[in-house]
Amino acid sequence: KTVPQDELKRIAAYKAVEYVKSGMVLGLGTGSTANFAVARIGQLLKEGKLKDIIAVATSTRTAEQAVAAGIPLSGLDDHPLIDLSIDGADEVDPDLNLVKGRGGALLREKMVETASATFVVVVDETKLVDALGGSGLAMPVEVVQFCWKYNAERLKKLPELAGCEVKLRMEGDNPFVTDNSNYIIELYFKEPIKDAKAAANAISSIPGVVGHGLFLDMATHVIIASVDGVTVRSK
Ligand code: A5P
Repeated sequence: KTVPQDELKRIAAYKAVEYVKSGMVLGLGTGSTANFAVARIGQLLKEGKLKDIIAVATSTRTAEQAVAAGIPLSGLDDHPLIDLSIDGADEVDPDLNLVKGRGGALLREKMVETASATFVVVVDETKLVDALGGSGLAMPVEVVQFCWKYNAERLKKLPELAGCEVKLRMEGDNPFVTDNSNYIIELYFKEPIKDAKAAANAISSIPGVVGHGLFLDMATHVIIASVDGVTVRSK
């Protein structure tokens, strides 16, 4: 049995939208899975099946998609309490801790999702790992542009990261610049992170680091779509 990965993403996202009720303030995630949720919310608003939704977008990309889909937008300044956020993830561990931000939207995602009473993560089964850092793919750290090489070296030397490789994220010939005008240093782990909390604290303690992709103790629900069906894990 094979189901295209995009179809699994859509199935997980549509399942998450079942948690959305009229009158809610929503956090809208970023990425190819979250896109399906945003589109679905727009569709239900148009059909009149959802009403009085206000949303906070986690990236300019998502904000553009939401406007095009007819979803009214606001920000945390006016809506500091989010009822429900829906977003994808790059890695999910057995305790529902996450790596996020491969799409580069990690800072706004973390701000919005930390402010959310319920945070539903939507993934296909390829995102499941035994321990964070285990996918071998990049874990992003958002840093100010000033002396980014110095901070990349500091990250590389953190004992909590056990000698990871570091790379500046590029977009063509130029450094990738986030919605917040910062750079992204990508961490590549040789082995899964032993103590994610210690790693998160160590990364955050470096001046000039403005955010990182470890989302610990944040997800309340993870919806996993696989060829065998949809599973919901919750805290
Ligand atoms: C965006 O910055 C990320 O956190 C995404 O939510 C994450 O990378 C998952 O993206 P996909 O759904 O496209 O895999």
